[in-house]
Amino acid sequence: MAEQRIALVTGANKGIGLAVARGLLALGLVVYLGCRDPENGRRAAASLEDLAPGARSVRLDVTEAASITAAFDRLDREEGVLDILVNNAGIVGPLDPPSASSMQGLRETYETNVFGVVAVTNAMLPLLRRSPAGRIVNLTSDLGSLTLASADPSFPQLLAYNSSKTALNAITVTYANELRSDGILVNAVSPGSVATDQNGHRGELTPDQGARLPIRFATLPQHGPTGTAVTAGSDLEERPLPW
Ligand SMILES: NC(=O)c1ccc[n+]([C@@H]2O[C@H](COP(=O)([O-])OP(=O)(O)OC[C@H]3O[C@@H](n4cnc5c(N)ncnc54)[C@H](OP(=O)(O)O)[C@@H]3O)[C@@H](O)[C@H]2O)c1
Repeated sequence: MAEQRIALVTGANKGIGLAVARGLLALGLVVYLGCRDPENGRRAAASLEDLAPGARSVRLDVTEAASITAAFDRLDREEGVLDILVNNAGIVGPLDPPSASSMQGLRETYETNVFGVVAVTNAMLPLLRRSPAGRIVNLTSDLGSLTLASADPSFPQLLAYNSSKTALNAITVTYANELRSDGILVNAVSPGSVATDQNGHRGELTPDQGARLPIRFATLPQHGPTGTAVTAGSDLEERPLPW
């Protein structure tokens, strides 16, 4: 068993994922940066070298079963355990409202934001179960909140993205209930509105600010919450995210 805590962050070559990796490294963890493009992964890991020696890039496309299996094999061989899984990889998908949505756009969005999370989580569970304190953080969005959407007729109408994050919230609660007895805490964290490629850098927070809540939930103490959803406001304070 490794002595240092081991983390895997998906979609870690840029944006919030890279900032989460940076923050976990600063806490002294070994961090595997899951990146679908190996060259981007190498560059991202190299950019963190000055901070700590524990950054490793691993090829991981969350929609590709073979790459998930290969990432599991490598972590199993090199570490034998995984303490933290941050399911960060996500796409915004088509910006279409429901009436203009294509099935292809919906399927592509769900492949990454929904099925990708389940596939990576299930693949990594044998390693997480070997941890004394497994933690799973799923990057959700305020746009997945049914409560917020139903209270506001002008709520953004992105069918694919919003509903994929709603599904992710349901998935989070279901895993939390199953894994409670293993001591694995599973939570959905919305980083707030963060300036990244995903939104043309129009968010209010920097990636490092957006990474704060995911990092907090990735490093929860033993009796921390599970099956919850939280969000960060522009003041960076943590609030419950209504389902
Ligand atoms: N930015 C916000 O305000 C905001 C708000 C709420 C929730 N979020 C969520 O936070 C997460 C990170 O978003 P971000 O803003 O940092 O977006 P981003 O800058 O666009 O980064 C997305 C990351 O996901 C990766 N990715 C996409 N598809 C993938 C796949 N099939 N396999 C592996 N990696 C894949 C991307 O890799 P490539 O570089 O190869 O494309 C990239 O590394 C997402 O889940 C997003 O929905 C963001």
